[in-house]
Amino acid sequence: MYKIAVLPGDGIGPEIVPEAVKVLEAVSRRAGIEFQFTEALVGGAAIDTRGIALPPETLELCRQSDAVLLGAVGGPKWDTLPPAERPETAALLPLRKELGLYANLRPAFLYDSLVEASPLKKEIVTGTDLIIVRELTGGLYFGAKKREQTAGGEMAYDTMYYSRAEIERIVRLAFAIARQRRCHLTSVDKANVLTTSRLWRDTVEDIKGEFPEVTVEHMYVDNCAMQLVRRPAQFDVIVTENTFGDILSDQASVLTGSIGMLPSASIGGAVALYEPCHGSAPDIAGQQKANPLATILSAAMMLKYSFKMDQAAAAVEAAVGRVLARGYRTPDLYVPGTQLVGTAEMGQLVRRELEEG
Ligand code: IPM
Ligand code: MG
Repeated sequence: MYKIAVLPGDGIGPEIVPEAVKVLEAVSRRAGIEFQFTEALVGGAAIDTRGIALPPETLELCRQSDAVLLGAVGGPKWDTLPPAERPETAALLPLRKELGLYANLRPAFLYDSLVEASPLKKEIVTGTDLIIVRELTGGLYFGAKKREQTAGGEMAYDTMYYSRAEIERIVRLAFAIARQRRCHLTSVDKANVLTTSRLWRDTVEDIKGEFPEVTVEHMYVDNCAMQLVRRPAQFDVIVTENTFGDILSDQASVLTGSIGMLPSASIGGAVALYEPCHGSAPDIAGQQKANPLATILSAAMMLKYSFKMDQAAAAVEAAVGRVLARGYRTPDLYVPGTQLVGTAEMGQLVRRELEEG
């Protein structure tokens, strides 16, 4: 039996998360393994009912669970709160930090039938199958920051801080992932300007001897942004620091047809957290327009990384592939000639494929 903490959060979160939960239930019936789901408040939803974005009982539930499934947090209603109280900075970042989730895996895989959904030309996106390994508990997000009035006017700073130990653990993990895939690692930095990047690059150079089967290449982040849309199939595993990874993963999502296709796993601690890469999409919340596939694919990552149920994970991914091949599309993926469906309908289609497949 596995205990799963379920944190739907805000915006489209309460629409997409139940679809992933139902997929996990279908998996559990097939595999004869029991999943126990417990829901808790996080983000704006928690601010509204508990007065705080990450209530201690939510954090405690996550700690007591075998895995966490999260929807999204944030929305216009809470955007005017001071940074220390906002859903993003007061719930999501502390949750990642408290659970020790230093590695964020974001696979960008293009399903064959979605080639037409990408704004990029078919010959460019074809063959996209990469994973971004983003450092998640360091860098600008967590370094010293301040905004203040000075004699010379208002000023602000954020600090990009990395220790060698922080870089070593994420880089080793990325090498290990590359070894399981096509054995190519691209380490992304800005070593021509940033000191942290020079430490990053030196650390990669020092570690690479431990993984002789993996070829490693260093790439500046600006060039990587260009290469991702110019020749994405050149990438296998990309490892990079927190902010670069945040930006590059949104960009990579477009290669898959929509950011609604990009799942993520945050690992490195005792309990891992699974969430779609997209946000709470308040503009379409409550309208059954959201694509639940990124969350369903995040649940597949949970099966793989937390429960070692690789076959079940592959079955979920294959079911998603078959539903897409049959032409069903949520609005974000829609192109003329395909069949438009809503959030719950898409979830149900995947479940049916899973049960029949
Ligand atoms: C993401 C999101 C978050 C991040 C925000 C909501 C704080 O953009 O998971 O990529 O920047 O990490
Ligand atoms: Mg982001």
